[in-house]
Amino acid sequence: MTSLQQAQQLRDGFWHLLCHRSELPSSGDYLKMEWLGEEVVVYNDQGNLLAFDNLCPHRGTRFFTETHGNAPLACPYHGWSYRAGAMHIPCRERYAQADLDNAKLHTLQLDWCADFLFAAPAPRMTLDEQLGDTYALLADISFNIAGRSDVNAYAYECDWRIALENALEPLHVPFVHPESLAELQLGDGSNHFTPWTSVWQAELGNASMAKKLRSIKRLFQLDQQYEGYQSLYLFPFTMLSSTYSYSYSLQHFFPSAQPWRTHFSSRLLNGAASPSSAGALQGFFDSSARMNRQVFDEDHAICKRIAKDAADNPRFGILSSDEEKIAHFRACLLAAAGN
Ligand code: FES
Ligand SMILES: [Fe+2]
Repeated sequence: MTSLQQAQQLRDGFWHLLCHRSELPSSGDYLKMEWLGEEVVVYNDQGNLLAFDNLCPHRGTRFFTETHGNAPLACPYHGWSYRAGAMHIPCRERYAQADLDNAKLHTLQLDWCADFLFAAPAPRMTLDEQLGDTYALLADISFNIAGRSDVNAYAYECDWRIALENALEPLHVPFVHPESLAELQLGDGSNHFTPWTSVWQAELGNASMAKKLRSIKRLFQLDQQYEGYQSLYLFPFTMLSSTYSYSYSLQHFFPSAQPWRTHFSSRLLNGAASPSSAGALQGFFDSSARMNRQVFDEDHAICKRIAKDAADNPRFGILSSDEEKIAHFRACLLAAAGN
């Protein structure tokens, strides 16, 4: 199996956390992502969310060209549109009935883990089975999120596995992120593994920063908080990381159909603010977004320097004890290919 076929198999057979419910609060809200030469759009159709491949069933025109926004689901080519669960086709009588019967959006299967929306083209297991123990943690996190404050999407110039493995290990942090993530002085922390997920939790060694972070807790309304840095990995392409649960970076490392390219995106999801502090927190979310952007640019810069074939070359398979999550990821890849 080529690495492209492997990526396709992972995309099609697994559930992917595409978004949080609060990212698409109004009818017409949409989000667009790319994977393997195709796109996936999540769309709010009068309160119902659907995920589909962004293609008009008439002639295959892409409905949306921006990464996110609010617009009717209407094709600019011949005016076909989708509303309230149905295709609306101008001059219907000019088409054969059999063609009209096939005029449907190409949708993905959906499931929810509390307020997180997952989608899969042809899942090989239930979402419960795929998430295992991590289901409950993810559900608790979802109830503490109330919106989005940043969308950062671009192509990493490297294989998706290189980008993801970089996101899975803290060993590089002092070298690659000396003035950003390293300032937290994260401890060794601990890992928790399920068959298809891993969770890393680590305390902050920077006491003054920890004190500052504890002091803003009253601005939030959180039923669940991890007082430290927490990073969840959801096989195959998704990470969700947070400092003190005040905001979450939802990251996708979607494979591209072109070699040595990854469709990276990070969206900043906001922790729920207490009623009087929504305005006061805007500056905090803006600075978190800026910091995340810097961290991902630093990650991209190092990932570009890695040998293009490193993910397939056993010569570069050396792992330290801090890189257990990479070993788990590689075991998941083998298990997925063997099933
Ligand atoms: S291609 Fe969309 S309406 Fe014709
Ligand atoms: Fe990094």
